[in-house]
Amino acid sequence: MSSTLFTGISELHTVSERGVINNGAVIIQDGTIQWVGPAAEAPAADQEIDCGGRAVLPGWVDSHTHMIFAGDRSQEFAARMAGEDYAAGGIAVTMNATREAGEHALTELLKQRIRDAHAGGTTTIETKTGYGLDTQSEALAARIAAAHVDDVTFLGAHLVPPGADPDTYLDEVCGPMLDAVAPHAQWIDVFCERGAFNEEQSRRVLRAGQARGLKPRVHGNQLGEGSGVQLAVELGAASVDHVNYINAEDIEALASSNTVATVLPACDLSTRQPLAPARTLIDAGVHLAIASNLNPGTSYTSSMNFCVGTAVLQMHLSLEEAIRAGTSGGARALERHDTGNGLDPHRRPAKGTLVEGAAADLHILCSAHAIDLAYRPGMPMTHQTYRAGRRVA
Ligand code: NIG
Repeated sequence: MSSTLFTGISELHTVSERGVINNGAVIIQDGTIQWVGPAAEAPAADQEIDCGGRAVLPGWVDSHTHMIFAGDRSQEFAARMAGEDYAAGGIAVTMNATREAGEHALTELLKQRIRDAHAGGTTTIETKTGYGLDTQSEALAARIAAAHVDDVTFLGAHLVPPGADPDTYLDEVCGPMLDAVAPHAQWIDVFCERGAFNEEQSRRVLRAGQARGLKPRVHGNQLGEGSGVQLAVELGAASVDHVNYINAEDIEALASSNTVATVLPACDLSTRQPLAPARTLIDAGVHLAIASNLNPGTSYTSSMNFCVGTAVLQMHLSLEEAIRAGTSGGARALERHDTGNGLDPHRRPAKGTLVEGAAADLHILCSAHAIDLAYRPGMPMTHQTYRAGRRVA
């Protein structure tokens, strides 16, 4: 395949030890990055694309979404804005709509959500099941997701469906449901929270998934202090997500582990929870990721531009820290981060970084300066998106 040289890059955010290269250039070929450096030193390529003086970042790595759903919960959101608290029970509303929607409608909804994500500079997407909550519906969600996104997470333990007995439901989740979903998924997740699943139940679910070859990740410490963080660290989870209510021991446990803390700024705003302490986590040496948490209950947006900008504005991250969390941080949460040679731990092209050997996932901003992600909130930010060298938006 022919090589392509991208020039006219005001700021090239490599998200690597090479930092930001002013007046940079990138050469891609066969879906990976072949060369990165100052434009003045760029070797020749078969064709050239002039980015017109814009900033270029790695594509966003959105490591936490719930994209397989149907239905609407705008009234629930409106009630929350009028003072109601968020409660896990709303998941059942989406469960009913999702079960009724059928394969074709769910597939079309997912495809549109992926197009929206690409249009906002996202190039890598994890998504979860968790709105089917019976074996047939969870397996369908996983199968649809596996055909369209990078990583699929089994979240049968999102909520005990209304009317079901918790122990009987968990027997199903850890038995026939897991059997049906596992062939389509890489990850096992649990909503370890008041109103959803307690520590013991969560451990059971995660261990069952691990026994089937799925790797753990956890929804934890979203609505109050709890055992999600400690459980995630204990089981070697790749990530624990939300982390709004964490204490000193949780931070210490994360800092001495490989578990990523994934913060979800849009969700925090939409649920009016205190923002996750991203600044404190970084200062303590914890690996941080930022994700959108697209879902109809707590975060109805896939805009990583918004999430990263909000992390700068409201979570007190520097621009570089926030970009890193939305790119290589997300990649680490999915075990797609660069291990030093442009490859991830499984020897695939790494995501979330612009180094030789990594995936040719480029996000060309509308602006010359990436700080505009925070400086110009709500303005169009994505000019073009390339995934594995192919333009997707
Ligand atoms: O990550 N917290 C659990 N799951 C979703 C919300 C699900 C819903 O309310 O529909 C989340 O915020």
